[in-house]
Amino acid sequence: MVNAAIERGQSVPVKARRNRRLGTIASATTKDAAGGERLIPEPQEPLFPILSLKGLLARSATKVPSIAEHGDFIELIAGRYAIGIALDLLGVGISDEVLVPACHCTAMIDPIVAKGATPVFYKIDRLLNVDIADASSKVTPKTKAIMASHMFGFPQDGPALRSFADQHGVALIEDCAHAFFGDGMGTYGDFVIGSGRKFFPIAQGGCLVTRHPGLRDVKLQSRGLVANLRDALTLIERSLKFGRLWLLDPPLMLLERLRGKGKPTTEPDDSLNPEPAPEEREIDYFPDEEHIGISGLSKILWRMTSPGWVARKRRENYRKLLDLVGEGPGLRPLFPDLPDTVVPFMAAFWVDRLEEIFPSLEDAALPMQRYGQFLWEGVDETVCPVSVDMSKHLIQLACHQDLTDTELRRIAGAFREIVLREN
Ligand SMILES: Cc1ncc(COP(=O)(O)O)c(C=O)c1O
Repeated sequence: MVNAAIERGQSVPVKARRNRRLGTIASATTKDAAGGERLIPEPQEPLFPILSLKGLLARSATKVPSIAEHGDFIELIAGRYAIGIALDLLGVGISDEVLVPACHCTAMIDPIVAKGATPVFYKIDRLLNVDIADASSKVTPKTKAIMASHMFGFPQDGPALRSFADQHGVALIEDCAHAFFGDGMGTYGDFVIGSGRKFFPIAQGGCLVTRHPGLRDVKLQSRGLVANLRDALTLIERSLKFGRLWLLDPPLMLLERLRGKGKPTTEPDDSLNPEPAPEEREIDYFPDEEHIGISGLSKILWRMTSPGWVARKRRENYRKLLDLVGEGPGLRPLFPDLPDTVVPFMAAFWVDRLEEIFPSLEDAALPMQRYGQFLWEGVDETVCPVSVDMSKHLIQLACHQDLTDTELRRIAGAFREIVLREN
């Protein structure tokens, strides 16, 4: 599959040295069409929210609905572990099946496989909506749950999913990794999962929200002082790298010099987060990390961040980005309209010749991701032609609250220029 991808001119990450904790990319190279190695530069702008004074002080009185309101709430180190705990509470194990979208990110599938269960893929439509009829046709006596994701923050048909689950007697895992905020988000699922680091300036974080009585018996390991300090350093280094919290740079340098190390090394982090190709990936799910709670520091930062401000900035940035990128031959936004009720995760675009131009986009060091670039083994045209199309044409750009106007202009300008120049 990698070779086929290279033949198609698709760039394939071959050496993503993954940190054991959460798959952080410490360095990444890719193979070009000729098979040579090429370094993928880190993004010039942060892919996810980062710590800044502005963000910490920003306030807004506007009430924004969040998934945390709809049940008991636990915070873990990643959304994938929330899925894992939900599966445990449902008693999902070997020989059970879980329905999942054919267009997915592998972090959604890993927990299912880690439990010994089988993911069964249902079709999606061209706006990434669940094809309920196809999902129904895939229900068997072994089906224990259906997982559905509100992609990029845009809602799935919650009532239809709820009645599907009730009708077939399966649980609904509502994946709100892209939709921490927004009307209706988290109100339909028996289990609701979130991914905190996509919305808050924290080092690691995910959450599980449910009214399942078993949640009370889930015991989480608390994090010690060292973990808190490590999170603090990671966050500060990330912010310094992108020109925030610069007042902390001199004292940190001094500290490092006293320790005889010179300037602190800002480890490349998961701002650059290419999904590994199937051949080189291991399951990115570590059972021993499932029950680790997030650090106290991340908890504080999560709660200090103003939901009203996050929602307003993300919506503004989304609109700005769409305006600046515009449309053109072979380029269009997937969701041109932003309903009042949506707080977007990223701005998704359809690009006709994405596979050919992707190396140029990587060289431009854009804060971007390709959702569903690598589909789970066996997910092909016969399973869902739309998902295969998405894996070749879908790309999304950051629009989070911590991006400045200048950064948004650089991202949109470089993206538009490359896509239209090379299209
Ligand atoms: C739709 C979706 N669900 C779940 C996850 C897992 O979240 P986490 O990375 O916090 O484990 C992701 C990760 O990006 C995702 O995109």
